[in-house]
Amino acid sequence: MFAKTCIIGLGLMGASVAQAMRERGLSQQIVAFDTYADTLSMAQELGVIDAGFAKLAQAVAGCDCVVVATPVGAIADVLDTLAQALAAGRLPDDCVITDVGSTKAGVVAAAQAIRVAHGIGFGQFVPAHPIAGAEKSGLLARNGQLFVHHQVIVCPTPFSQAAAVAKITALWQALGAQVSVMDATRHDAVLAHTSHLPHLLAFALVNQLAAHDDNLDIFRYAAGGFRDFSRIAASDPIMWRDIFFANKTALLAGIEDYETQLARLKQQLLTEDSTALLADLCAARHARRHFGHMLASAQHRNDPTMSQPTQRYCIAPADRFTGTYTVAGDKSISHRAIMFGSLAVGTTTVTGFLEGEDALATLQAFVEMGVNITREGDKVTIEGIGMHGLKAPVKPLDMGNSGTSTRLLAGILAAQAFDSVLIGDASLSKRPMERVAKPLRQMGASLQTTGEKGTLPISITGGKTLHGIDYAMPMASAQVKSCLLLAGLYAEGSTTVSEPEITRDHTERMLRAFGYPVEQNGNRITVHGGGTLTACDLAVPADISSAAFFMVAASIAPHGDVTLPHVGINPTRTGVIDILRLMGANIRLTNTRDVGGEPVADIVVKSAPLRGIEIPLHLVPLAIDEFPVLFIAASCAEGETVLRGAAELRVKESDRIAVMADGLQTLGVDCTVLEDGIRITGKGAARYVFGGGAINSHHDHRIAMSFAVASLRASDTITIHGTETVNTSFPNFAQLVSRAGLKLDVEQDDV
Ligand code: S3P
Repeated sequence: MFAKTCIIGLGLMGASVAQAMRERGLSQQIVAFDTYADTLSMAQELGVIDAGFAKLAQAVAGCDCVVVATPVGAIADVLDTLAQALAAGRLPDDCVITDVGSTKAGVVAAAQAIRVAHGIGFGQFVPAHPIAGAEKSGLLARNGQLFVHHQVIVCPTPFSQAAAVAKITALWQALGAQVSVMDATRHDAVLAHTSHLPHLLAFALVNQLAAHDDNLDIFRYAAGGFRDFSRIAASDPIMWRDIFFANKTALLAGIEDYETQLARLKQQLLTEDSTALLADLCAARHARRHFGHMLASAQHRNDPTMSQPTQRYCIAPADRFTGTYTVAGDKSISHRAIMFGSLAVGTTTVTGFLEGEDALATLQAFVEMGVNITREGDKVTIEGIGMHGLKAPVKPLDMGNSGTSTRLLAGILAAQAFDSVLIGDASLSKRPMERVAKPLRQMGASLQTTGEKGTLPISITGGKTLHGIDYAMPMASAQVKSCLLLAGLYAEGSTTVSEPEITRDHTERMLRAFGYPVEQNGNRITVHGGGTLTACDLAVPADISSAAFFMVAASIAPHGDVTLPHVGINPTRTGVIDILRLMGANIRLTNTRDVGGEPVADIVVKSAPLRGIEIPLHLVPLAIDEFPVLFIAASCAEGETVLRGAAELRVKESDRIAVMADGLQTLGVDCTVLEDGIRITGKGAARYVFGGGAINSHHDHRIAMSFAVASLRASDTITIHGTETVNTSFPNFAQLVSRAGLKLDVEQDDV
């Protein structure tokens, strides 16, 4: 990549860059400048560098790559010397220069001043910030793997040349990092909150405890909380002093916000306001859990190929799948419970709420818009704030992996008085959003899908008056229908949506449960704007989409017999039962009853020989989420199964036709991909339908769970990569299927 690289400053960062470049053969020669002669000679002895220089100008002469790894406070002086070298021709014009400073606006300002002072373009300079700190410092703490799977934020100056940005990006990527590009000011504002403030607080807390008379005892008995909280106070004080000063304005704003939070908690304690305190703690816990998942999957967002999942299932062959299991709460109903409960008048209680990341993304969004929501496990209490009570969120609403949250919320947000932005993870950011944006615009909303292909982020301008429309949906989508009905609640006049095929009707049912009239005329659904929602108590049934994995598992297992209590059997969702029965499955519904406007039953499934079928077109939307696992059933059926009319599968959390076909072929199943479906040649009664192999879930929970089920007819171990997304819809999937008989190990990828 480079002929001669100069590292300026051989602390942890500089020495790690040198070591990593050396290990990966990225530069023929590596030299360094450092103010300590001992460090230079030691680095040379250790083979980290080829030569060391005590004079900066000498060190950089003739280098085509320069990495400035000094403390932030020294970067400006170093850049000045580099500018002189460029002006004098001692550094080649096509060299590139980067730095590793933790604050960026000051560095960009210094570069701008130097550029003017020396009359040079300085386009070679591309500032960067590797977020890969460690509490250790110095040459001896260097680590050639320090940047692997870590983020590096590149903050080009207004005058950075595109070629230099590309080269510096390639350098950090070659060191194993995931690179994102950000404006320097934004970088500093973000880092003030996520890094600088926590460090400052950690230093403060340690000082506070150390100042106590009984400090020895305090430290001796310090529990995990103190250990976790104070870990970063062991970091380099000089470096942090420099960072705090360099990012003073943003950091001071962060401190003020923090003081407000503390004052609030203090007041709640003083006045023994247990409800308010609990509400704040619950809100924080929701946020932490929600963002915990996002943090874990951040690398997926930054890596468009999503080739570095964080968790995998290793599943050995098994032949038993038995027992009684209450599967996760219904995802569609859980989303809607939060939305309707928030917009209602009064307090709504929800039981059986899905504690999965998708439903929590919806919950978190409403918390961020000022709704008081408390949750204890699957019990949620929502203090409704009425149709017009939502407050402007202070930052973009992160929908994670959830299409339902995004599309339904778009309908609500389009009608609010405030502006908002919706963002999501890599998978969600590829999914089509114009399908809701276009009809919402027809209603008078102002919103933009700012992604490349009508995708996220969605930017919504509030304050628009919506008017009802009569909209014929071009695709069978409950999300689009629900989005428009929700916007219709706020619109002048009536909003009618007609669907080309029946889709799930949870929105219509729940509107009625909240006392909002909905008219249904054949395939036409109408609401009149201006009404109110009245709080109610909801019991969310188990999700038939989650039950589907158990239904197929019990059907194909040599010894299969499961009972699944309290599963939602809304007729707009039971396509999977109809299809499995057409294939010969042994499924019995018992104890059928109605709970809060939704029919539920206990489902009993036993092993049965399956046969291939042509899936009736009208059942496709009624089983739209269950096809991945139905493909597993089809592989175990006698003869051919053909699915058509299912192009929608291509725009789910992954392209479920392509990704399933890939996985099936990996495991030795013969299938042909069709434009809008798939043809699968089943292996019938064969004990082993699948071989072993490695499957990439493509960040799609249902792909991951489907291939886990395949292990009941597999001859060898199946490894499924990227299974952390199972948390979006079925957090205890691994535990339940293990109890039922799967030999499943959850392993963490080493990142
Ligand atoms: C859902 C609708 C369906 C489904 C999704 C949940 C809903 O999506 O796939 O998992 O809750 O409305 P489409 O509307 O895109 O078909």
